[in-house]
Amino acid sequence: MNGETSAAAFVEDVSIEGHIVDSLILPKILDEITALGGKFEISEIHVGQRRNDPSSARLQVSAATAELLETILTSIGQHGAVPVHQQDCTIVTADMDGAFPEGFYCTTNQDTEVRLGGNWIAVDLQEMDCGIRIGEGDQSAECLPMSQVHQGDRIVVGRLGVRVIPQGRELSEHGTFAFMNSAVSSEKPKGVLVRDVAAEMHKARNGNGRILVVGGPAIVHTGSSEHFSWLIREGYVDVLFAGNALATHDIEQSRFGTSLGISMEQGNVIEEGHEHHLRSINAIRRAGGIKAAVENGELTSGIMYECVRHNVPFVLAGSIRDDGPLPEVITDALEAQQRMRELIRDVTFCLMIATTLHSIAVGNLLPARVKVVCVDINPATVTKLSDRGSFQTVGLVTDVEPFLRSLLNELQGS
Ligand SMILES: NC(=O)c1ccc[n+]([C@@H]2O[C@H](COP(=O)([O-])OP(=O)(O)OC[C@H]3O[C@@H](n4cnc5c(N)ncnc54)[C@H](O)[C@@H]3O)[C@@H](O)[C@H]2O)c1
Repeated sequence: MNGETSAAAFVEDVSIEGHIVDSLILPKILDEITALGGKFEISEIHVGQRRNDPSSARLQVSAATAELLETILTSIGQHGAVPVHQQDCTIVTADMDGAFPEGFYCTTNQDTEVRLGGNWIAVDLQEMDCGIRIGEGDQSAECLPMSQVHQGDRIVVGRLGVRVIPQGRELSEHGTFAFMNSAVSSEKPKGVLVRDVAAEMHKARNGNGRILVVGGPAIVHTGSSEHFSWLIREGYVDVLFAGNALATHDIEQSRFGTSLGISMEQGNVIEEGHEHHLRSINAIRRAGGIKAAVENGELTSGIMYECVRHNVPFVLAGSIRDDGPLPEVITDALEAQQRMRELIRDVTFCLMIATTLHSIAVGNLLPARVKVVCVDINPATVTKLSDRGSFQTVGLVTDVEPFLRSLLNELQGS
């Protein structure tokens, strides 16, 4: 196969290996080279014969200018294409707090390695849109958010000596998660997807997995609070991330039987119901917080109550539109991000339900190896997630209530 390299062009040999054929990584790389205006020649290719066999390829990539070649190599490097002639990564010391040195290597959410002293070592705390900080003695490397750079930190600059290990197909798997490729499922049988989600959650709960749920207030507005509470009680939620609204309306429902002033029993607007959520926030603030309100018997049911009772850690991240907010809401966005980073370290499965804001925020923090299911009535939410790099997200376009009801049916039958 030939993308017509030219003798006059700027040229680099790159190699790529792994499940590059069945995960469509190789075609993606070839397409990207030509789309960016470069050319390629496949000098070697070895295709694995059996299902578990990896494949490998060596390409000669060329471009009309050194800058274009650099752009192409940076882009295809994110899919695991690595220059054949490698060297150790370049390290530059940060000259100020809160900013990287110019030319810093910008991370993806895919597992990454850096070359130090001739050895490739894994980068810890993988997260997209960060830099890479090298530890003392060149023995460790980790992703570092820009706001956490300190003067004197040793930061990787340029793409040399950095390689990405692309997320391929998981060989043991079938169905929804076999190809983690943003399947938005408005036109797919939802029952199959729900069954696969239930199987993943069951496997995580009964094994070493850890489940993160990211939720929006529509969980409460649609009358799904009890479904969600059941998931918490049964050990299917290890961590909860949400905003002020989910917790507020959940507490409103527990105290007044309404959500945003709508009766959960009758579905009608209750007189002065619009005040209920504010009165709920006020009561919790007076009690000293959600946990204190559970302990003193003021809050006796609902999602937040179950989280406290079952020691499920939660992060309520603030937003500009919050009323109150509830005392546990972290209003400093960077502090909320950091608390979320601490709690996602061992997460293996993430269920995002009915929140664009928090889903995208969490998508930015999760490494690509974490399976993500995003349930939203609007397909644009899932599309936004994948456009921002969380390509491993499987989307389920549906109302949250029937989704949670059928998830419970599946889990209760498993
Ligand atoms: N009174 C308050 O304090 C208050 C009120 C609202 C929101 N907020 C805060 O504002 C921020 C953004 O709020 P958000 O995350 O709710 O808004 P968002 O717009 O980011 O997300 C809401 C999502 O819910 C989806 N959705 C709506 N109904 C649904 C249904 N029945 N089934 C499935 N999906 C459904 C929408 O398509 C949308 O994607 C949050 O931090 C929140 O806590 C605060």
